[in-house]
Amino acid sequence: MASASALIILLLFLSVQITQSSSPEKEKGHLEEWISLNVKHYNRKRAASLKWMQESGKHRKQQVPAAANSSQLDPNLRNAEMNKMIISVSQDGSGNFKTIKEALASIPLYNKRRVILDIKPGVYREKINIPRSLPFVTFRGDSSNPPRITGNDTASATGNDGTPLKTFQSATASVDADYFVAINVIFENTAAHVVGTVGEQAVALRISGNKAAFYNCSFYGSQDTLYDHKGLHYFNNCFIQGSVDFIFGYGTSLYENCQLNSVAKKVASLTAQKRTNSSILSGFSFKNSTITGTGSVYLGRAWGDYSRVIFSYTYMDKIVLPLGWNDWGKTIRDSRVYYGEYRCSGPGANMTGRVPWARILTDEEAMPFIGTYYVDGNSWLIHPS
Ligand SMILES: *[C@@H]1O[C@H](CO)[C@@H](O)[C@H](O)[C@H]1NC(C)=O
Ligand SMILES: *[C@@H]1O[C@H](CO)[C@@H](O)[C@H](O)[C@H]1NC(C)=O
Ligand SMILES: *[C@@H]1O[C@H](CO)[C@@H](O)[C@H](O)[C@H]1NC(C)=O
Ligand SMILES: *[C@@H]1O[C@H](CO)[C@@H](O)[C@H](O)[C@H]1NC(C)=O
Ligand SMILES: *[C@@H]1O[C@H](CO)[C@@H](O)[C@H](O)[C@H]1NC(C)=O
Ligand SMILES: *[C@@H]1O[C@H](CO)[C@@H](O)[C@H](O)[C@H]1NC(C)=O
Repeated sequence: MASASALIILLLFLSVQITQSSSPEKEKGHLEEWISLNVKHYNRKRAASLKWMQESGKHRKQQVPAAANSSQLDPNLRNAEMNKMIISVSQDGSGNFKTIKEALASIPLYNKRRVILDIKPGVYREKINIPRSLPFVTFRGDSSNPPRITGNDTASATGNDGTPLKTFQSATASVDADYFVAINVIFENTAAHVVGTVGEQAVALRISGNKAAFYNCSFYGSQDTLYDHKGLHYFNNCFIQGSVDFIFGYGTSLYENCQLNSVAKKVASLTAQKRTNSSILSGFSFKNSTITGTGSVYLGRAWGDYSRVIFSYTYMDKIVLPLGWNDWGKTIRDSRVYYGEYRCSGPGANMTGRVPWARILTDEEAMPFIGTYYVDGNSWLIHPS
């Protein structure tokens, strides 16, 4: 008995000593707790939405998002999370690395652990690419003084090979890897856009990796700020600023509690969603967000024939044009796009002048888009830090 209690005391002592967040036992407990609290909750909601999708799919197959299949935490992610490690980046030399690039270069290819880059405050003038071979990277800044990753490349700027970069390569930061997370980070492209000029697309962040999440991040740019290229993505409490098409691509993304701030001088569009086929899972869903700023904006213009964008519980300031949506001059898209609004408010949410092909969603129609199950979050959304 005595030796058992001594052992317990010793264990308690040891567990107090292990303050690193990489303690596997602590992580495991943390993770299990998270799963029990959240996954079950997600699954319940998801089950309801799947049921709805199956039923209504019989009638309106075209518009129903492909049902995601997994219901358990992705095993690769579980493993990465349980073995996570932290490295720090500080420009004053007090961290493990002085630049984000150097920190990324230290991560082994096809890394299996979650690697958190603790990025200290500062302006990081770095052009960053996270290749497919570097999954599980997290950028974490300080919420009271977030690091700013900045650049000013444009589509027409000349790349190393002497040819124009094009929109894709104009990004200040680009992520091709899966399981990327950013918390409290500012992504910026400072190139200006002058109305009527060409080649000024200037991306602040391109996200092409699957299962990426952004918390408390800001994206500053002008034309084409956030290239939500492809994959399942989640944005929470983010600020996104731009002038023309400033959220674009064919990602399948949920934006919750975000602010979309237009700096357009004339008429522009907040989004240009590129879903090209009725059977593919792709679309932007904005929930509990706000639309502010200058100019006159469409909520979206159809880049792809089956472009899909939903706004729910969103406050729309008067800058939103009464028409609301734009088919980019191709009327064939009017019957193909899926542009929905659900329980929005503010002067810009008045449906009186809307294009006839805009949809006021019913509860049932809105349901598949207004939870993290829309991006299959139950299988991969983990604690941000
Ligand atoms: C989808 O779920 C079913 C039932 O759980 C499983 O048998 C099947 O392998 C899953 N498919 C994919 C692609 O994950
Ligand atoms: C882009 O930034 C660099 C570095 O600060 C600066 O030298 C250059 O003039 C800028 N280019 C433009 C077009 O603003
Ligand atoms: C997001 O920012 C708020 C302050 O604005 C802070 O309280 C919160 O902890 C931050 N979230 C994360 C995940 O760091
Ligand atoms: C809606 O967004 C605001 C602002 O980000 C946030 O404070 C609030 O908690 C959100 N409400 C819900 C129900 O998520
Ligand atoms: C969508 O893509 C599938 C598979 O590539 C193809 O069979 C189908 O015809 C496409 N549908 C439309 C409407 O383009
Ligand atoms: C919506 O707009 C119409 C036409 O401009 C106007 O008559 C109506 O009062 C507006 N509704 C609200 C609730 O503001």
